[in-house]
Order: sequence, then structure tokens, then C-alpha cells
Amino acid sequence: MKKILVIGGTGMIGQPVTRALIDAGFTVSLLARDPQKAEALFPDVHIIQGDVFDPLSLMLAFEGQDAVYISLSPPRTARPYHRMPEREGIDNIIAAAQRTGIKRIALLSSLVQQYNGTNGFRWWIFDIKLAAVQKIRQSGIPYTIFYPSTFMESFDQLLLVGRHVLLAGHSQAPMYFIAADDYARQVARSFQIQQAGNHEYAIQGPAAATWQQGAADFIQHYPHKRLRTLTMPLGMFKLMGRLIPLVDYGAKISEALNKYPERFDSTATWNELGKPVTTIAAYAAGLKKSCKA
Ligand SMILES: NC(=O)c1ccc[n+]([C@@H]2O[C@H](COP(=O)([O-])OP(=O)(O)OC[C@H]3O[C@@H](n4cnc5c(N)ncnc54)[C@H](OP(=O)(O)O)[C@@H]3O)[C@@H](O)[C@H]2O)c1
Repeated sequence: MKKILVIGGTGMIGQPVTRALIDAGFTVSLLARDPQKAEALFPDVHIIQGDVFDPLSLMLAFEGQDAVYISLSPPRTARPYHRMPEREGIDNIIAAAQRTGIKRIALLSSLVQQYNGTNGFRWWIFDIKLAAVQKIRQSGIPYTIFYPSTFMESFDQLLLVGRHVLLAGHSQAPMYFIAADDYARQVARSFQIQQAGNHEYAIQGPAAATWQQGAADFIQHYPHKRLRTLTMPLGMFKLMGRLIPLVDYGAKISEALNKYPERFDSTATWNELGKPVTTIAAYAAGLKKSCKA
């Protein structure tokens, strides 16, 4: 496995994975909707303009590649009747991969989607993500699926608003927060080993914490300004979410994350792909000043 095409390499998790693949010595290409944005991030990488809703662009991008790594996310304001990258996009990716002889498809999925269907919770976004996994399993192409717990990047890139880390409700079960750089090294390792083909990996960090514990740890070690946790009642988000799709997305993911009884399931992952080392404290302390800081 030498030549890897990354789809979604400009995203929050796609960026560190792209860097780790380059660092590991792979020949990396990026399929990007906006080549200028991708070039600014990765000046030395081969950028191919494309869109997962455009089958021809996928066929052209896949030609000559060994593997495809998929790091897509649902638009947070989408409605079920919209085209979705992980539904129509995945169909197009599989069809193009079959036609061009791709040797492995790797997918960034999610651990918490397994909460779908429990305690009366059902979310159409999770239905799409679960179906994407099924389609890839049935594609006949060797695959690797990654199921990460919550990324530590959520604290500074998604939840940091002004001087507050904004939480929705209280989490009832701790999660094994993972740093994207640790995950990225595991992805790179998976492309180096044969046994990662047709394999599915739980991706979890070194220690478990609830949202409130994690946020406290993050705030204590965040170097740039004094922060506070602001916990809003989940019910308020749910109510507002009836009117505003973006808030509805936040309410649904928060409800699932707050209630999903995550258990540690990464012993095999750590043995095969390496052990994550980054704690929330180390992650926060190492944050460089960015536009969000
Ligand atoms: N946040 C967490 O804690 C967490 C935990 C577990 C799993 N995950 C999963 O991680 C995944 C990635 O999340 P993320 O935060 O990295 O997402 P993100 O920042 O929104 O990145 C999504 C990427 O997909 C690309 N993309 C979107 N639509 C596309 C299209 N039609 N054609 C080609 N490329 C397209 C985007 O390109 P542009 O630059 O052009 O927009 C971007 O590069 C999600 O599926 C999420 O469920 C997240």
C-alpha cells in the first residue's frame, strides 16, 4: 500500500490524518472541492479537484491509487431529503473504487453511533453513518473501519465560544477522549499492515472522562486565556433545535454522547496500531495560538 487518496483532508480530522500519512512516507493525494483551500494547507501534496457527488471526478482521482481514506461529515444544517456525503457520496465512492481496482477503502466512522436505537433514541444521521459501514463491508473491496470516541479537538474547535466551553447537559458515562494526532498515527499504521484489511477498530484515548471532567481538565491546562465551562440544559437545545437545524444537530449528538455507555474496547487496536499517549491536559497545554484561541 503506497499511494493513498484522502477524501476530506481539509477537515478537522482529515488534516492531521493527511499529515500523518505524509510523515509515514505514503504518496498522498487529496480530493478537494476547493483546491486553493487544500493547497494552502498542504502545499506539497497532489491536489485533485473533485466532489463525492461527482462520479467522474472520483473515477479520475482514483486512477492509479492503491487505497482511499474517507473523512467525510454530514453538513450540520442538512435535512434528511438533502444529498449527503456519507449516503450518495459513499455510493459513488464504492462504485468508482470497484471500477478502478482500489485495494483498500478506509472509513472514519464513529463509536457513539452505536447508541442509535437504544433508550428510544434514533437519529437519521446515525442511520446514514451505519448504512455507510454496511455498504463498504458489502463492497467486496478490503476495508478498514475506524470507530473513534470523542476527539479532544472538540473542546477548542467546536465547543469554545468566547471564554466559554459550551456543553449541553451532563454526560452520564465517561468517554475515552482521543487526540486526532494519536488517531492519525494509528490510521497510518493500518495502511502498513496487511491484517488491517477487513478489520474494524475502536479508537479510544488513554483515559476516560465525562464532558464536565474533560472540560475542567482542558480549561486548567489551556494556555491562552482563562476559560469557564458553561453547561446549558439539554432540553433547551432540544427545544431550540425544533426551529434551527444547526442546534438540532448539536442537541442530538450531545444527547447520544451524554447517554452512550462507552466501554473500553481498544486493546486489540492498541496492540496492532499503537497506543495513544495524549491526555486532555497535554493536548490543551500543547495548543498553539490559533484563530480560535
Ligand atoms: N468530532 C468528533 O469528536 C468525532 C468523533 C468521532 C467521529 N467523528 C467523525 O469524524 C468525521 C469527520 O469529522 P470532521 O470534524 O473532520 O469533519 P469536517 O471538518 O466537517 O470535514 C469534512 C470534510 O469532508 C469534505 N467534504 C464535505 N462534503 C464533501 C463533498 N461533497 N465532496 C468532497 N469532500 C467533501 C470537506 O471538504 P471542504 O473543506 O470542501 O468543506 C472536509 O474536508 C465525521 O464523520 C464525524 O462523524 C467525529
